[in-house]
Amino acid sequence: MTDSDFAADEIDTSTPHSARMYDYFLGGKDHYAADRKAAEDIRRLFPQVSSAAWANREFMHRASAFLAHKGIDQFLDIGTGIPTQPNLHQVVQGISPTARVVYADNDPIVLRHAQALLRGTPQGITAYVHGDLRKFEDILNFAREYLDFRRPVALSIVSALQFVSEPHNPYRIVSSIMSLLPPGSYLVLSHVTWEFEPEIWDRIDAIYRRGKDTMRARSRAEFVPFFDGLELCAPGITVATHWRPTPQMRIRDERVPLYVGVALKR
Ligand SMILES: C[S@@+](CC[C@H](N)C(=O)[O-])C[C@H]1O[C@@H](n2cnc3c(N)ncnc32)[C@H](O)[C@@H]1O
Repeated sequence: MTDSDFAADEIDTSTPHSARMYDYFLGGKDHYAADRKAAEDIRRLFPQVSSAAWANREFMHRASAFLAHKGIDQFLDIGTGIPTQPNLHQVVQGISPTARVVYADNDPIVLRHAQALLRGTPQGITAYVHGDLRKFEDILNFAREYLDFRRPVALSIVSALQFVSEPHNPYRIVSSIMSLLPPGSYLVLSHVTWEFEPEIWDRIDAIYRRGKDTMRARSRAEFVPFFDGLELCAPGITVATHWRPTPQMRIRDERVPLYVGVALKR
């Protein structure tokens, strides 16, 4: 882990941050007044935002469990967010106690909480790096210390790609990482879409821009190419609540504005 004191100094509480706003939407405790104000401004435009956040989180749980049951035991999760139980390592190490999980996020507040994330099973590995998707090579250099890239890895980027806009070429980022993973690896993605309520997303982007983030919601047609060259697992691309639903889900049936998919690299 990098120096948390250094990162703690960088925490800017005066402007909203996506990780802290998401924590607020999930009912967590790690947010400041600027985050709450921005989050409530979003809730006025999009009253179901907390349900959507939970539907997203629950998709991550189901997709990770699905892959752990398939025998995947190495996970690289980028854009991890502030810890919210259960976290990905708790889901997969509950199925496969020796599973290795590497987390990365670019928000210093997530780094501050990484110590909590690091408590995985004694048999498995749970590691965290402060890193940015736009500099994914640094994340991969760290991940190689813990994951064996000669064996399949599940790459998950769950509700984080909408914070990477076109000048940074998010498609190239995803395909470059996948190109370095061996056959048998998987890609797990969720992504905010503007398609169900096109009129609100420019205003939501304007709220995120008060801080360091932009919100680039995408259409289904813009989401699909992230999976180019990969084989989508059934049921293909769906909204988050419709992907392999289970009776345990707290958010069911709602058409949340999030497209999701899980795909295999043959
Ligand atoms: C909406 S939260 C999702 C958290 C978690 N993946 C989940 O689905 O519950 C988005 C996260 O992506 C992180 N993020 C945004 N842009 C990023 C980037 N360029 N590199 C790494 N992380 C990023 C934010 O800091 C935030 O923690």
